[in-house]
Amino acid sequence: MNIRTTVAIVGAGPAGLLLGHLLAKSGIDFVVIENRSRDYTLGRIRAGVLEQSSVDVLTSLGLDARLQELGLVHDGIYLQYEGQRHHVDFNELIGRTVTVYGQQQVVRDLMLAHDELGSAVYFESSDVLPRDIETLRPAVDFTYGGTSYSVEADFVVGADGFHGVCRTLIPSTVISTFERDYPFAWLGILADAAPSTDELIYALHPDGFAMHSMRSPSVSRLYLQVDPDDDIANWSDRRIWDGLHERLGIDGWTLDEGEITEKSITPMRSFVASTLNHGALFLVGDAAHIVPPTGAKGLNAAVSDVAMLGSALSSYYAGDAGPLSTYSDRALRRQWKTQYFSRWMTEMLHTSGTGPEAEFRYRGQVGQLEYVTGSHYALQGLAEQYTGLPIEGI
Ligand code: PHB
Repeated sequence: MNIRTTVAIVGAGPAGLLLGHLLAKSGIDFVVIENRSRDYTLGRIRAGVLEQSSVDVLTSLGLDARLQELGLVHDGIYLQYEGQRHHVDFNELIGRTVTVYGQQQVVRDLMLAHDELGSAVYFESSDVLPRDIETLRPAVDFTYGGTSYSVEADFVVGADGFHGVCRTLIPSTVISTFERDYPFAWLGILADAAPSTDELIYALHPDGFAMHSMRSPSVSRLYLQVDPDDDIANWSDRRIWDGLHERLGIDGWTLDEGEITEKSITPMRSFVASTLNHGALFLVGDAAHIVPPTGAKGLNAAVSDVAMLGSALSSYYAGDAGPLSTYSDRALRRQWKTQYFSRWMTEMLHTSGTGPEAEFRYRGQVGQLEYVTGSHYALQGLAEQYTGLPIEGI
């Protein structure tokens, strides 16, 4: 079956679904093709912090009703080291805030709004394969419900994540990748426990990084630094809580426990593709780049890509092809700043190595944290980056 549309979007995660809404607002037709099921897409537990810029994008589309109701506006974060907890007040430092609201909830809001629009979203598609991306008539072939489909479009957008097919279609003579692995991973849990803190705690401890985040007034999200080749089977609930008490504990404060409802280990990686555009194909979000989670930037970077691309496509159909031709450069310029910040936060807060070298590194990190928490200028830089750099050209 042949379908003609304007923009074929591969991937119904937050990036693909959000792009659909931006296009709909500009009256541009689109089709979304996703190989996972709707329930799988809705159930994936991921990031939890929205930059103010990301909230602004969702608000401009009228997609913020539940976000306004359930999102937790945080004025800052805590940085903790050597048994001391320091408040970093973004609002006081630079007049900006962040909103704690799970990616899962963002996806649900976007999906329900697509249901209302009657958008064409093909879940559980198989053999999804874009073709002819170097021509003016690209298409995406896929199988849905046992029938072969071909969606012809002006443009194809790869919003299909790090392991998606779209990036792999750009010839290796055109694209290169920049990559960095880290010698640590995060063990993350969701617990039915009221958060023991009003704002997120990022802690450096000699045993490794730990973090206290949250999803709602009754659900906590907590993380422990572990070895990347560690197995979740090695971590009983008791061992996890003991580690969290040890690394997050300070005098006069207690971490409340609750039932652990989810636990998993996620490796950490930095990755950037050298171009986000080839012919009629454009990449957004994790298909184009990955950051370690310490700066809470993954979802926000996807939102900024999509905001830039949506705006550029809108200009294109209004007669100005300029912004679309510079999308890749503009998105990558913002992305490299995000890469730098994510790596900076990660290296400042995680331990690595053994023996004298590890000790030297740890002492240096304590010095760095003392400097950052003691310098108004350094704190402003942290606040500016954590709450989100401006999204150019939207
Ligand atoms: C989360 O709540 O999952 C979260 C928050 C902040 C981060 C990373 C993850 O930096």
